[in-house]
Amino acid sequence: MKKIKWGIMGPGKIAHKFAQSLQLLTSAELVAIGSRNLDRAKVFAEKYDVKRVYGSYDEFIMDPEVDLVYIATTNQSHFECAMQCLKAGKGVLLEKPFTIGAEQAKILVDTARGNEVFLMEAMWMRFLPVMAKIRELLAENTIGEVRMVKADYGFQGAYDPERRQLNLKLGGGALMDVGIYPLSFAAMVLGVKPEKVISAAFIGETGVDEQCSFTLSYKGGELAELSSAVRTYIPDFAYILGTDGYIKIPEFSHANSFELNINGKSEIFELLHGSNGFTYQAQEAMKCFSERKMESDIMPLDETVDIMKIMDHIHSQWGLEYPVK
Ligand SMILES: NC(=O)c1ccc[n+]([C@@H]2O[C@H](COP(=O)([O-])OP(=O)(O)OC[C@H]3O[C@@H](n4cnc5c(N)ncnc54)[C@H](OP(=O)(O)O)[C@@H]3O)[C@@H](O)[C@H]2O)c1
Repeated sequence: MKKIKWGIMGPGKIAHKFAQSLQLLTSAELVAIGSRNLDRAKVFAEKYDVKRVYGSYDEFIMDPEVDLVYIATTNQSHFECAMQCLKAGKGVLLEKPFTIGAEQAKILVDTARGNEVFLMEAMWMRFLPVMAKIRELLAENTIGEVRMVKADYGFQGAYDPERRQLNLKLGGGALMDVGIYPLSFAAMVLGVKPEKVISAAFIGETGVDEQCSFTLSYKGGELAELSSAVRTYIPDFAYILGTDGYIKIPEFSHANSFELNINGKSEIFELLHGSNGFTYQAQEAMKCFSERKMESDIMPLDETVDIMKIMDHIHSQWGLEYPVK
């Protein structure tokens, strides 16, 4: 079988995890690295035995060998990098948050569809075996009618105003960096059309939200109560609460197991994803690409845009505006 050839744009911290995931997949081959800095590209490429290295994104996107590009640059450049790839006919797996705002997201989606090129948000949590099993249980109404979702995720990062999570120019902030996990999780369970969103945030000295909480209420009375932080540790935990029971997911953003509790009777599901959970999103992207599907059913593009719209709405409630449009 012909291997699918990947390129990585933005060889930073998280790109290593993705490169390692490709090493675990026999159908994948990492063939090119693109950086704004040739030395950085070379150092990264050496580690993964990649021959083709580029010191500019313009050169990288012209590489004829590359089928799919994983974009792992900082948030403010997602739009521009993805646009370059899509225009060059490269399929794109784009790190979260997809863009700075829904307007950019919609333009990317329209471009991908117009050019018939694959595009997907790298919301890796969605593709984990645990999440697939949970979707299956929900579709069978195992916990009855879902009434509420609770999900929180925060970490205690050091105070450095230049750190990307605290940097307004780089598209930082708790909601953008980690709040997107509880939000995407709630969207997966309850949908992307809440009737009302109520939120509160602490905006720190750098102008971004250091912590926030937000509640989404839906037409049928369903609620999602969510929170995130980039300077305060919040245990990564989620619940789906239904009329007949609940699903409890420790470390939901990278879960290996969950508890299903129906009327007090508990069952533990262990669905280990091993050391690198990134393989599942890469596999989904390659499956779509080889089947000539332009988007994934697990993380559909319209849903990505709608999630960005909710984030825009929340940001506007705090008066938080990003310089990149
Ligand atoms: N899925 C996950 O679990 C997960 C985890 C962490 C991060 N992420 C996402 O992945 C992306 C990268 O995060 P990271 O922690 O890997 O970031 P990072 O190491 O700080 O930076 C990644 C790359 O961004 C590029 N970049 C472009 N413009 C830049 C600018 N103005 N300043 C600094 N770097 C710039 C650089 O690539 P060049 O070499 O080309 O200059 C850099 O190597 C973010 O969007 C983040 O939200 C996802």
